Amino acid sequence: MQFPDYIKHERLKQWVSEMVDLCKPDKVRFCDGSQEEYDQLCEEMVEAGTFIRLNPEKRPNSFLARSDPSDVARVEDRTYICSISKNDAGPTNNWMAPKEMKEIMAGLFDGCMRGRTLYVIPFSMGPLGSPIAQIGIEISDSAYVVVNMKLMTRMGKSVYDVLGEDGEYVPCAHTVGAPLEPGQKDVPWPCNPTTKYIVHYPEERAIWSYGSGYGGNALLGKKCLALRIASVMARQEGWLAEHMLILGVKEPSGRKSYVAAAFPSACGKTNFAMLVPPKIFQDEGWEVTTVGDDIAWIKPGPDGRLYAINPESGYFGVAPGTSNETNLSAMQSCAKDTIFTNVGLTDDGDVWWEGMTKEKPAHAIDWKGNDWTPESTTPVAHPNARFTAPAINNPVLDPAWDDPAGVPIQAFIFGGRRSNTVPLVYQAFNWNYGVYLAATMGSETTAAAFGQQGVVRRDPFAMLPFAGYHMGDYFNHWLQFGREIYNPPRIFSVNWFRKDENGKFAWPGFGENMRVLKWIVQRSHGEAVSVESPIGWIPNYENLDWRGLDFSRDQFDKVMNMNLSDWQQEVLLHEELFIKLYDRLPKEMINMRELILSSLWRTPTNWGPTHE
Ligand code: OXD
Ligand code: MN
Repeated sequence: MQFPDYIKHERLKQWVSEMVDLCKPDKVRFCDGSQEEYDQLCEEMVEAGTFIRLNPEKRPNSFLARSDPSDVARVEDRTYICSISKNDAGPTNNWMAPKEMKEIMAGLFDGCMRGRTLYVIPFSMGPLGSPIAQIGIEISDSAYVVVNMKLMTRMGKSVYDVLGEDGEYVPCAHTVGAPLEPGQKDVPWPCNPTTKYIVHYPEERAIWSYGSGYGGNALLGKKCLALRIASVMARQEGWLAEHMLILGVKEPSGRKSYVAAAFPSACGKTNFAMLVPPKIFQDEGWEVTTVGDDIAWIKPGPDGRLYAINPESGYFGVAPGTSNETNLSAMQSCAKDTIFTNVGLTDDGDVWWEGMTKEKPAHAIDWKGNDWTPESTTPVAHPNARFTAPAINNPVLDPAWDDPAGVPIQAFIFGGRRSNTVPLVYQAFNWNYGVYLAATMGSETTAAAFGQQGVVRRDPFAMLPFAGYHMGDYFNHWLQFGREIYNPPRIFSVNWFRKDENGKFAWPGFGENMRVLKWIVQRSHGEAVSVESPIGWIPNYENLDWRGLDFSRDQFDKVMNMNLSDWQQEVLLHEELFIKLYDRLPKEMINMRELILSSLWRTPTNWGPTHE
C-alpha cells in the first residue's frame, strides 16, 4: 500500500493496511482536511444526489442532505460497550464479549466497502497538541462523514505531525455497510437497512461502527470517542469527559467566569450555550459566550482549578424549534458554510423547519423529498433534523474557545426536563451532594399531559447513553475526583421546564435563564444570598435579578415549590436506579439519600423560599 510520506507512524500504517485488506474498497483516499478537498467532495456528492446545493444568495456554501428514512438518529439499542468483563460495562449498557463481537464485525466488514472509496480521516478532538486533546483516525466509506468531520473536529494532515512516529490514537472504523456489486447504481444515502452496530472496545480504546451514516453513529469523534471511549480514559487517567456545554459569563465589572452544564439530549444545551441576556443585562455589560455546546473534557490544572476544553469545533444542532427568537446565534452559525440534514427545502432553494419562522412557506419539499404545504399532516423536517455548522460562525464564540489550556470552570450545572418536583434552581450543599443530585437526575421522555405526570427516565449526569463503563464506577470516579481538588467548582441543579396547573411552562426560559445564571455565578464566587432547603441552597425571591421581567413572587413560588409527597416519590425513583447499580454503587449515595429523606421529613408539606 502506498502511503503519503507525511505519515510516519508504522503502527497506524499497519492498521490502515489491515482495514483496506478487510473492507476491500475500490479506492483509498488519504484526507488532508483542506478546503479544496472539502469543496471537491461536496461537489461529488451534489453530482451523486447525496447533497443539494442551497441557493448561494440565501445560504452561501451550504448543502442539504436527506438521509434514508430509517437512518435518522442514534441507535442506543444497537450500541455496545464490549469490555472484557460484562460487569465493567454495567447494567445500563449493552454488552457482548469482545471476542464474540470481533467475529461478528470481521464478518460484516469483510468486503463491506466494495465499489466504494475508503477515506482515511485524521482528526484531533480538542486544539491540536493541547494536553487535554486526543487524536483519532477514522476510516470511513462515506464522503458525508468526511465533510461533517471537517466541520466538527480539527481534521487534517497536521494531525500526523502531532502523532509523530509512535503517538497514541484511537482507531475508528466506520462503514455504511452497503457494498456495491459491479454495475449496481448507488443510492444518495447508502446504509444497511437491517443491520447496525455501534461498538466500543474500552480496553483497546477502539471503535467499530457498521450500517449507519447518521451523525452520532458515524461521526465517530463525537459520542463514540469524545464520550464513551474518553469517559473510560478519563477514569483511568484522572480527568472528566462529560456531556456538557461550556459557557463564559462576563459581568459588568469585567470578571469572567466559566460554567459547564449537563442536560440530556434535546433539552436546550445549544440554546443555553448561546444564551442572549435580557436587554437590561446587555446594556449593563453582561455577556454570555460559547466555548462548546455538547461535550466538555476537564482536567485539573497546575493551579488546582479545573480546566475544560470543547473537543469539537462545530455544532451538530437540532434544527426544529431553532429560530431568531429562541437562538439567534445558532441561526447565525448556520447562515452559511453549513450542512443541513433532513430539513425542508423551500422553493427558493433555502431551508425551513418547524418553528424557524412564524410564517410557514406556502410550499416546500419535506425531508423525505415529497411536496409539503402548511396543510400537510406530516412535518417538513424530521424532529431530529440537524445543522452541522462551524464554531467560527458563532457570533458569540468565546475568545478562549480554542485555547489549548482550556478555561477554568467555576460551577457545574445539571438539568433535566421536569414538569414538577424539581425547583427552578438549587445549589448542592457540597461536592458529594452535587454528585448525588447529578447521579439521580431525571428527565421526562414525553411532555406531561395536563394533570398527568410525565414519564421520567433517570439520566445520571445526562450520560446514560454515553458512559463507556459501569455507572456505579462513574459515580465513584466523580466522588474521588472531588476529593482531590482543593477548591472544587460549586454544583447546581436547574429545571427550566416546570409547568403550572394548566400544563403551561411556568418559567419563560431562554434569555431569561440569565437571571438564574447570574445567581449561580455569584454563588459560585461566594457572593449571592441563599437560604437552606432540605435538598440544597435556594434563592429567595429578592435574590434573583428581576429587572425588565414581570415575574411575581407568586410565580416564583410556583417554580421553586417543593412538595413533600412529590419528593418522597422522587427518592423512591432514585432507589430504583440504585438497586440496578447496587453492586458498584458508592456507599455515599445511600448515605446521602438517607440524609435527604431525614431532612424532607422535618419540612412542611410544601417547601419553598417564602414558606419558611
Ligand atoms: C445528542 C447529540 O444526541 O448531541 O446528544 O447529538
Ligand atoms: Mn449531545
